[in-house]
Amino acid sequence: MTANASAAAALVNKQFRLPEGYAPKELVYPDIPFTFSEKIDKRKLRKEAAEALEQLVAGAAKDGIKLAGVSGYRSESRQKTLYEGYVKKDGVAAADKYSARPGHSEHQTGLAIDMSGIDGKCAAESCFAGTPEAEWLAEHATDYGFIIRYPEGKEDITGYKYEPWHIRYVGVELAAKLAESGDTLEEHYGGAVPVSGGN
Ligand code: DAL
Ligand code: ZN
Repeated sequence: MTANASAAAALVNKQFRLPEGYAPKELVYPDIPFTFSEKIDKRKLRKEAAEALEQLVAGAAKDGIKLAGVSGYRSESRQKTLYEGYVKKDGVAAADKYSARPGHSEHQTGLAIDMSGIDGKCAAESCFAGTPEAEWLAEHATDYGFIIRYPEGKEDITGYKYEPWHIRYVGVELAAKLAESGDTLEEHYGGAVPVSGGN
């Protein structure tokens, strides 16, 4: 099934995949610190998300929280390489709990990014949970239009383990709605089939 790929509110998950080979338009480099210095794909995000992320990182800095990007945009072929590596290392069942299959990752939309503290410690690892950076994100990300996409306690609904570092841009309005209801995107759409969209 196909997700409405270009919408900020797109539902991309195990059930709804992106169109074959989908690549978003308007990928840009957000002006924020990263845990690495190379100017490579995983630094990129869709323009709207990149601008919101710049505001988020500036807002965190005002509260004394220094955030850095770890991994943003990924092409379908990059996700394929990563996923296949995880399967080799941990087996299919384990890999499916923490990695999307190619075509099914929010990273491919350019609307999701993994964040860490500026020192890169616990980047995309479970020890990020409970850090001041994770707590700041949980409390404030929605103000900037981002949600913690794979929350604790919703593993059976999202299909993924808790990822306090993976933030997904959905726009301020929907983020506020989800914060209020406590719903994941899956619950929000209630099993409705998102219309397929172009690029
Ligand atoms: N870690 C998330 C689920 C992804 O691979 O997109
Ligand atoms: Zn992620």
